[in-house]
Amino acid sequence: MILASPSTRAQSHLRPLNVFHDLPAVADLIELCFSSTMDNDGRRYLQDMRRAGKDNSFVKWASQTIETASLPLTGFVWEEGGKIIGNVSLIPFRHGSQKVYLIANVAVHPERRRQGIAQALTRQALQQARAKKATSTWLHVREDNPHAIDLYAKLGFKERAKRTTWQALTSKDAILQSDITVTGRFSNDWQTQLNWLKRFYPDFLAWHRTWNFSSLRPGFWNWLYLLFIDLRVRQWSAQKNGVFEAALAWIPSGRGEGLFAAIGSRSSPEALTTLLLQARRDLAPAHPKIILEFPAGEFDQAIHAAGFQALRTLIWMQAT
Ligand SMILES: CC(C)(COP(=O)(O)OP(=O)(O)OC[C@H]1O[C@@H](n2cnc3c(N)ncnc32)[C@H](O)[C@@H]1OP(=O)(O)O)[C@@H](O)C(=O)NCCC(=O)NCCS
Repeated sequence: MILASPSTRAQSHLRPLNVFHDLPAVADLIELCFSSTMDNDGRRYLQDMRRAGKDNSFVKWASQTIETASLPLTGFVWEEGGKIIGNVSLIPFRHGSQKVYLIANVAVHPERRRQGIAQALTRQALQQARAKKATSTWLHVREDNPHAIDLYAKLGFKERAKRTTWQALTSKDAILQSDITVTGRFSNDWQTQLNWLKRFYPDFLAWHRTWNFSSLRPGFWNWLYLLFIDLRVRQWSAQKNGVFEAALAWIPSGRGEGLFAAIGSRSSPEALTTLLLQARRDLAPAHPKIILEFPAGEFDQAIHAAGFQALRTLIWMQAT
């Protein structure tokens, strides 16, 4: 075949993902392209993808539940000579009346890079999201991946948030002597806690959460509701000299168990450190690892002082 221009070349090789045939090859490509940054969750994701590729009944079932599945069941691949050398996934999320799409797994075989393939795939995914009347289309990219950031900026994506994922091991020995008083229950100042939460977990990213703030609301009815839906939320709040300084919640969610911190801009950072240490202690040994996702650069020292390590910082970009 004679390839006249990048656009005709794009048409001849770019096609929708076929979930019944492509998943094992896509898993191989993702493994090759992301091996240097892949964590255990990533490896589990690839295992799921390979399993789905082997078992068509699973794929059929998952295709019907596509609005909630996180497997890459829609997307596009770039194929050459029967080999998949490029991939993009398009993952739908429902949030109230919003229909949000996440572009993910953008990967091109190392031998075929810098030829516009990722750009063509991402553009196609974006067009597909628009054709499906997406309310908004997002992607996230590691802050230490400037080439990919460049690629997305060229396609009109704009940075909306930068968030660091922190991880710590739990331990019965984690304790800090300080003048912060910690209580292991819901805070008494829900409105302040809610305002702080909204700053750190902004509404425009709410589509990506599997819980909402109201699960942290104090009171009997919420307690009963949490019991009813079997959501075992843990909360701690910190006071200094009788003043509410910070709150921390632990919510087991479908996508892993997470900590959610709320602290005022004028609060003592030590309050956050103390709460995080308390969570490390109280959640041991049943939950060996705990995760906190927080805006990058905010209270970094306080989080680090509680024994948390930064795993990655992601830039969240939205299509304009
Ligand atoms: C990032 C990646 C998908 C780019 O694929 P690609 O097909 O080479 O990208 P394109 O050729 O479409 O490049 C589009 C633009 O991105 C930027 N870019 C991509 N790779 C680059 C590089 N190595 N150096 C500098 N700029 C680069 C450039 O702005 C480029 O435009 P230009 O070629 O006109 O200068 C590919 O390198 C890859 O698979 N990397 C590993 C996986 C990964 O990091 N994926 C992104 C996850 S968010």
